Amino acid sequence: MADRLGVDLGSSWLTATFALDPRSVSFDDWLLSLHVLSAFALVAGLIVFWVLIVAVRKTDTPDGTIRMAPVAKVGSAATGVGMGGTIVFGIWLAFSVGRYDIWDGWIVAALVLWVVAAAIGARTGKEFMAGMTKAQELDAAGQTGPSSELLALNRTQRGLVMHTLASLVTLLILADMIWKPGA
Ligand code: HEM
Repeated sequence: MADRLGVDLGSSWLTATFALDPRSVSFDDWLLSLHVLSAFALVAGLIVFWVLIVAVRKTDTPDGTIRMAPVAKVGSAATGVGMGGTIVFGIWLAFSVGRYDIWDGWIVAALVLWVVAAAIGARTGKEFMAGMTKAQELDAAGQTGPSSELLALNRTQRGLVMHTLASLVTLLILADMIWKPGA
């Protein structure tokens, strides 16, 4: 039987037709789509935290601070899935896609920057959790009114700088992925 290219492929016609079909999705295509979806989740999570950082800057009550916890959970889940997915599918792609190697400069740079972003992200989380912990303590002690100490913790300058750095490092990885310098 001849396929669309007019080649006689005999009994393997079905397999050959799908392999030659430019619309067929390879395993590497699936890996790349999962990798890029993870990148979306990571960037979305970082943006959720930007929204929280802006919102918490004017929050000086325990109740107002505690009410942000569910949104923070969404941000943590998105960044967690994003960080995990980008590293797992990224390393998998580096081994699976024939034209790249794990020791290519742009891939090594991405791995180093990913570790830097993870370390900064962990410290950022600790900075902003101080405000949440204080809010829970005040709430448990029955102090529900405004607190200047809580406001100062919620406005952590270190946290703001850390999140800015984590966002910049992530943008750097994204640029590295798109331009693939040296590939
Ligand atoms: C740190 C470990 C990472 C490794 C080893 C890695 C590896 C790779 C590889 C090998 C490709 C090319 C796949 C192909 O052309 O078939 C790729 C593409 C891509 N990666 Fe990563 N990646 C990593 C992290 C990230 C992160 C953190 C992001 C997002 C912030 C990201 C976003 C992307 C995007 C958007 C593409 C598609 C770019 C394009 O081809 O135009 N990657 N990655």
